[in-house]
Amino acid sequence: MITLTKFIHLATIAIWSGGLLALPFLFWQRRGLRAGPELDQLHRIARLVYVELTSPAAFVAIFSGTVLIFLQATFEEWFTIKMVLVGLMVMLHVVAGLVMHQLFGPGGRFGGLSFVALFSTYSVVIVAIIWVVLAKPQIDSNQFAAHLFEPGGLARLFHQFFGDTRIPIP
Ligand code: HEM
Repeated sequence: MITLTKFIHLATIAIWSGGLLALPFLFWQRRGLRAGPELDQLHRIARLVYVELTSPAAFVAIFSGTVLIFLQATFEEWFTIKMVLVGLMVMLHVVAGLVMHQLFGPGGRFGGLSFVALFSTYSVVIVAIIWVVLAKPQIDSNQFAAHLFEPGGLARLFHQFFGDTRIPIP
């Protein structure tokens, strides 16, 4: 069960990451194209990669990762770092969708600088996640957040910030 879920997780991660790395290249092909069949074809390919390959793969990767949480011990500090980075990757995934939304309209632009910025951000985040998962760095959260993994710690933090929000029973 674990092996199969991990296989699905890794296979979909490969498609998701590959798709995200390919998209800036596709967006960059927009330069110099005017409205016409060539632009329509590029639009179709970009939509295929984003809507039909990368987004479903992201969905399955997150789902299978969530299943793995229940199958493997994940209450360790490196996993928290991984989740923060995955959150960043999801937000950057949405950025690609927003770029595509404006790119194929009249006057849509995606210059060399945008290409380098988007492609390098994707590469750094993906490599960082893979490094964290494979190296599983040992971090002792007691050094800076002693109650991070303590049951009820979140509620205590909440009350610290917002005071006692419990409704008194008369
Ligand atoms: C919500 C999203 C995700 C969740 C909940 C999740 C969860 C997990 C869990 C629980 C494991 C097993 C951990 C262990 O080996 O102890 C795992 C393995 C793995 N994940 Fe994810 N993951 C997510 C997204 C990602 C992403 C975006 C990447 C890479 C870009 C990634 C790369 C990996 C790799 C390479 C492994 C295999 C690690 C190994 O076997 O040693 N995951 N994931």
